[in-house]
Amino acid sequence: MEFVNIDFQYSKEVTVINEEQFNAHMRLYEGYINKMNEIDKLLMEDTDLVQANSTYSKYRGIKRGETFALNGVILHELYFQNIGGPESNPDETVKKYLSRDFGSFEQWEKEFVATAKASRGWVVLAYDVRSKRFRNISLDAHDVGNIAFSTPILVLDMYEHAYFLQYADKKVDYINNFMKNIDWNIISDRM
Ligand SMILES: [Fe+2]
Repeated sequence: MEFVNIDFQYSKEVTVINEEQFNAHMRLYEGYINKMNEIDKLLMEDTDLVQANSTYSKYRGIKRGETFALNGVILHELYFQNIGGPESNPDETVKKYLSRDFGSFEQWEKEFVATAKASRGWVVLAYDVRSKRFRNISLDAHDVGNIAFSTPILVLDMYEHAYFLQYADKKVDYINNFMKNIDWNIISDRM
């Protein structure tokens, strides 16, 4: 299956990122789409399987790139989909689950923000199937830090490319504005 990028459109209602920041980020997202098509094509060809080696090999390079690029596609799509305007609020079901697993909705929010500050790549509110609860997980790269058996629910890009053009080093302003722009209808659907 060929990867085709989702044609996300910038909305003036969004107050967390401006159009210039959005467009730059969209070009990076499309880069991951292109790389996935390149990698899938390579995997169909002669990849020199007999030379596969964990120190260095062509196959290792493809395999490292595969999970990095695919998670790059998935996480960016979830991120752009869960950004709405400032009008949305969490419903009672969302609040019930987050209160169950974090003590209160407000406590979940504090911990999500702290996880964002502590992350170099992504912060993800995910459902951890093994322990049957929601967790805020910290990723230092697309393929570093994920829980193997979990479902992403809310995704925030903490790579500097996501905010630096607009916010420079004011990372906390970006995080706080993101928290006001979550599309809670999408979050309810994912739960
Ligand atoms: Fe990104």
